[in-house]
Amino acid sequence: MTRNKIIIADDDNLVREAVRQILDMFGYDVTAFDNGQSVVDHVDDSFDVIILDINMPGMDGFETLKALNDRKLEIPVLFLTGAGSMEYAIKALGLGAYDFITKPIDDLELFEATIKRAIEKRRYVLMEHAYTSNLEIKVQEKTKELEENNRLLEEYSKNLEIATVNIILSLQTALEEKDIYTAGHTNRVTEYAVMIGQDMGLSEDEMKVLERAAQLHDIGKLVIDNSAIGKAGPLSLEEWGLVRKHPEVGKNIISHLGFLGREGEIIENHHERLDGKGYPSKRNGSDLDLLTKIITVADSFDAMTSKRCYKENRTKRDAIEEMRNCVGSQFDEKIVNVFVSILETMEEHPE
Ligand SMILES: [Fe+2]
Repeated sequence: MTRNKIIIADDDNLVREAVRQILDMFGYDVTAFDNGQSVVDHVDDSFDVIILDINMPGMDGFETLKALNDRKLEIPVLFLTGAGSMEYAIKALGLGAYDFITKPIDDLELFEATIKRAIEKRRYVLMEHAYTSNLEIKVQEKTKELEENNRLLEEYSKNLEIATVNIILSLQTALEEKDIYTAGHTNRVTEYAVMIGQDMGLSEDEMKVLERAAQLHDIGKLVIDNSAIGKAGPLSLEEWGLVRKHPEVGKNIISHLGFLGREGEIIENHHERLDGKGYPSKRNGSDLDLLTKIITVADSFDAMTSKRCYKENRTKRDAIEEMRNCVGSQFDEKIVNVFVSILETMEEHPE
């Protein structure tokens, strides 16, 4: 068993040696100095008790105690005080000394009991330190574990979102491809919208919403009667009424997916116009956000340039002219300008 370590500082050789021998006899490992500075220089966490004389040359007992307090080692300090110097003992206790021992040491039993009590105190301090640092390690480990779990959950929920959107898109593409007039429409609108968004310098988050909203903008057409959409020739009023429902229906379809809230609003508004003459809610430009306006331009351009069952397709040039004519009433001017310059660049440098 390792012996408890005690440091003693007393400039009186006789006292110092006497205390050393007694402590040695009690079985302690003793380190003795004749001044306070050496105690401060040599002490470390491995010591259990410090015994200090008060009057020493250089650093006295009180100054040594202050320097030890600054080290925050929390080793109990016992003062050696001459008989009758009670005020010194009180001062020492006030400075944080653990106890005091009266010189000369006649009562060995009392002396040993005082040392044992100080050692016990040190044991509690060390136990408390160990407990606190164990607790800190445990808290750190738990925090790390929680962070990792959160990361996995986030990743899982992101993958789930992606998988859900992909299922809807597969279904939509399958239905869209059945009709030669609508085949590829969603992909082209998404491609246009993404090009416009990139050119306008949208943030990564905004681009994600824009892309998903474009991919899902006509999802409502999945559930309305296909005969109206696929019909040859002009639509009747009643059939138009049915077609006009698709933005709201689309929003309702994805409303159950909480993470697509913003996309839902864009889908609902993608046939609104700046002049409030669109459908379904006749909202005007100030109620429409940028992403909605981008999709409206991309969607209308593709509708104009694609052959639909009820109309012939226009050339790209005609469609650009039509978009320009409708700036301010249907379309946002800046978006049209950006898109036209993209289309012109594509024409100049076809892939
Ligand atoms: Fe649409």
